[in-house]
Amino acid sequence: MEKINDYLCRYKGYVFVTEKLIVEHIDSLQNFEIRDSDVFLVTYPKSGTIWTQNIILLICESDNRDEAEQSNNPEKMPWLEFPQGHSDFSSRASPRYFASHLTPALMPPGLKDKKPKIVYVARNPKDVAVSYFHFSHMLTKLETPKSFEEFLQQYLAGDVGGSSWFDHIRVWHTHKDEYNILFLTYEDMIMDLRSAVEKIARFLGRDLDEAAISRVVEKATFKNMRKDPKANYEFLPTEILQGKFMRKGTVGDWKNIFTVAQNEMFDRIYQERMKDLPLKFIWDIK
Ligand code: A3P
Repeated sequence: MEKINDYLCRYKGYVFVTEKLIVEHIDSLQNFEIRDSDVFLVTYPKSGTIWTQNIILLICESDNRDEAEQSNNPEKMPWLEFPQGHSDFSSRASPRYFASHLTPALMPPGLKDKKPKIVYVARNPKDVAVSYFHFSHMLTKLETPKSFEEFLQQYLAGDVGGSSWFDHIRVWHTHKDEYNILFLTYEDMIMDLRSAVEKIARFLGRDLDEAAISRVVEKATFKNMRKDPKANYEFLPTEILQGKFMRKGTVGDWKNIFTVAQNEMFDRIYQERMKDLPLKFIWDIK
């Protein structure tokens, strides 16, 4: 295990929040038994994870109103890499739901043999950087950056929890055909939430009628999710989170913080590292 700073360390090529890392658990994922019925949500941090988590759960619970009322979203869809506070994953009833920021090498190999469903959400890396920068001020388990410039350098170097955005996107996108995966972008979800909900429902094999889709869309808007205590993570104690997970929820916020020089440098690096990938991100919505 390699120490990056007082808060982060690298293990098996991936950057973890040291306090949250349980090496034996991460190792045990190599023998974790996958079920065909499992549903995984995979993202790089700050890419719309809790939003999509809510959408998936709303879709899957649309025919079971009572159960939907009981617990918080991360109790229903825990983080695969953080077993703390959850009962043994293997004793959970099917279908099981998991969220994860991990890369394929650390994920259970059974994801390829069995065909559980994986929803992957990607977000343009400038908005991710800005969202992550603000989040680093809120999450007490992360170092508070001295400046955006300092954070940006760490982010570009992959010295942040979740490692490099570029590596995450590359490895999941280039290997996507080996999995049963639905690849979405945060920007597409912002531009047309209803289509995104329909796509996710179809992928999950849930035949929701128009009214049920409308209910999910309504509950998943930024405005309404912000008011939903089971979905917006405001239940996290202030010793862990001092601020809101649901901050702005827009595309193009990077323009409010990147300098011209930072933007030019970012574009150069993006060009170099992404040129061979057939991915186009939306950087702003007029
Ligand atoms: P901002 O910080 O740019 O506002 P994650 O869940 O992966 O940590 O991602 C958090 C980002 O998703 C935050 O971005 C948050 O505001 C945004 N988000 C969460 N719920 C959303 C929603 N219903 N609609 C749009 N954006 C949402």
